[in-house]
Amino acid sequence: MTSDRLSTTDLLRELEQVVETNLNRHLATAKEWFPHEYVPWSQGSDFEGPLGGLAWHPDQSKLSEVARTSLIVNLLTEDNLPSYHHEIATLFGRDGAWGTWVHRWTAEEGRHGIAIRDYLLTTRAVDPVELERARMTHMATGFTNAYSDESTLHGIAYVSFQELATRVAHRNTGRISGDPLCEQLLARVAQDENLHMVFYRNVLGAAFDLAPDEAMRAVCEVVRTFQMPGHGIENFARKSVQIAMAGIYDLRIHHDEVVLPVLRNLKITEREGLSGDGERAREELAESLAELDRSASRFTERRDSIHARSAARA
Ligand SMILES: [Fe+2]
Ligand SMILES: [Fe+2]
Repeated sequence: MTSDRLSTTDLLRELEQVVETNLNRHLATAKEWFPHEYVPWSQGSDFEGPLGGLAWHPDQSKLSEVARTSLIVNLLTEDNLPSYHHEIATLFGRDGAWGTWVHRWTAEEGRHGIAIRDYLLTTRAVDPVELERARMTHMATGFTNAYSDESTLHGIAYVSFQELATRVAHRNTGRISGDPLCEQLLARVAQDENLHMVFYRNVLGAAFDLAPDEAMRAVCEVVRTFQMPGHGIENFARKSVQIAMAGIYDLRIHHDEVVLPVLRNLKITEREGLSGDGERAREELAESLAELDRSASRFTERRDSIHARSAARA
C-alpha cells in the first residue's frame, strides 16, 4: 500500500495488529498498584466546613511554593481526563484492540489524579479550596486535541511526546519536593507515563513503516507546535515559568529528555523510503530542533544569570 492512499480508517486498521501486540506487551509489563498505599493517611485531619476541622494555612505545608505550583499543575493536568478520554476515543475508536487500549489507558490515568489529590489533601500541601476552584475552572475549559483537523498520525505523534513530557514533569516534581513520600508517589506515577509513552511510540514507529511521508510530516508539525496537555490551566504561562526556573520542566529538558529520545528511537535521521514531502518535513524538523536547542540555551543562560544575581544579593 502506498502511503498517499492511506486514509484514517485504513491506517487504524493497518495498525490494529501492532496495537494488539503492544497492548499485550503493556498488560504483561504494567504492575498493578494501589494509590491508597502511597498516601500517609495518619498525617490527615478534618478541614473547616461541615466537619468543623482546621482551616488550611500555608504554614501547614512542608513543600516549597514552586513544588506546590508544580503539583497543582500536574494534578489539574490529570484531572482533565474526561476530555482526554473523549479525544482519544474519537481519534482511535472504541472497538477492537484500539478500544481496549483507550479504556485501559483511561483507567490507569484515573489513578494518577486520585493518588496525587489524596496525597496533597492528607499532607495539607496545598490550599484545598483554591485547588477545587482551579479544577472546576480547568475542567470547564476542557481539552481539545489541537490536531483534530489534521491526520490521526498527528494525534499519535502528540501523545508519544506528551506521555514522556508528563513522565519527566512528575519525576522532577517529586525530586524537588523535598518529601520522600511525594517523590515515591510521583516516581510511581512516572513509571505509568513511561509505559504509555512506549506504547504510543511503538505505534508511531509502525506508522512510520506504513506511511513514512505522512508520519514525518506529522512529527515535524507536532514538534514545532507542541504544548503541554495542561496548557489550558488558568495562569499556565506564569506557572510554567516558575516550573522552568526551578528546573522541573524547561526547554532544555523538553529538547534533551523528551523530543530527542523519541526521535532517536524512531530513527528519524536514518529513515529511508521518504519521497519529496517526507524529505522536506525531515529538513523542517531538523530546523525546528535547532531552533528549540537555541531557545533552550538562551533560557538556561538567562536563568543562570538570574540565579547568580540573586545569590550575589543574598
Ligand atoms: Fe497521568
Ligand atoms: Fe499517561
